Amino acid sequence: MKITYHGHSAFRIETGKAVILIDPFFTGNPAATAGWEEASRGCTHLLLTHGHGDHTGDSLEILKATGAMLVSNFEICTWLSSKGVENYSPGNHGGRISFDDFDVIFTNAWHSSSDTSSGTPLYLGNPAGFIIEPRTEPGKTLYIAGDTGLSLDMKLIQELYKPVFGILPIGDRFTMGGDQAAYACRNFFDFKMVIPCHYASFKGFVAEDASQFLAAMGPDASKVKVMASGEMAEF
Ligand code: NI
Ligand code: MN
Repeated sequence: MKITYHGHSAFRIETGKAVILIDPFFTGNPAATAGWEEASRGCTHLLLTHGHGDHTGDSLEILKATGAMLVSNFEICTWLSSKGVENYSPGNHGGRISFDDFDVIFTNAWHSSSDTSSGTPLYLGNPAGFIIEPRTEPGKTLYIAGDTGLSLDMKLIQELYKPVFGILPIGDRFTMGGDQAAYACRNFFDFKMVIPCHYASFKGFVAEDASQFLAAMGPDASKVKVMASGEMAEF
């Protein structure tokens, strides 16, 4: 499984023949080092955790350019289909969708979900996280928390899906901070490797670096993979 980080919460994940973009926020992302055209090359699936602009980002352009399958909640799929997206597969919490190269399961996230670009928030369903179970690389289950606070539901996610890799927000203010993300890792999950996100992007709003998270991880800090924007790693 190849994971490329594009800053904030944007990731590209390659497994089998699938090229999955998560929350592809490039234009206006202070942490992005690539443009959407380059980062979305070959994209087969585009997963959106929720409707906030720092996650939906360049989705519309990417979906139209690549024809990739949009996977998100029903409201976001309906909203983007009203803007011309034809290829989409909606879901909601607890639901599993099977594709050729991976299964995706919608998990709870404690957050909100709306589009505020017009100035009046447009409701866009409930925010989610995703479990990704790669078919051609069994056992490499990945949990993408999305924007969320710490919740006891994470214990259930561990019990049901046993993810070995995690992508968790650590920025604070809008999501858990490093201390609570570390609490989740040390008390609820059993990750072999965890990648922090939703930080080092909007100065003054989210944590500037991963130091608080690393410190709170204590002896488990060796499991943290801090990725630079634009970096690709194989797991
Ligand atoms: Ni958000
Ligand atoms: Mn966000």
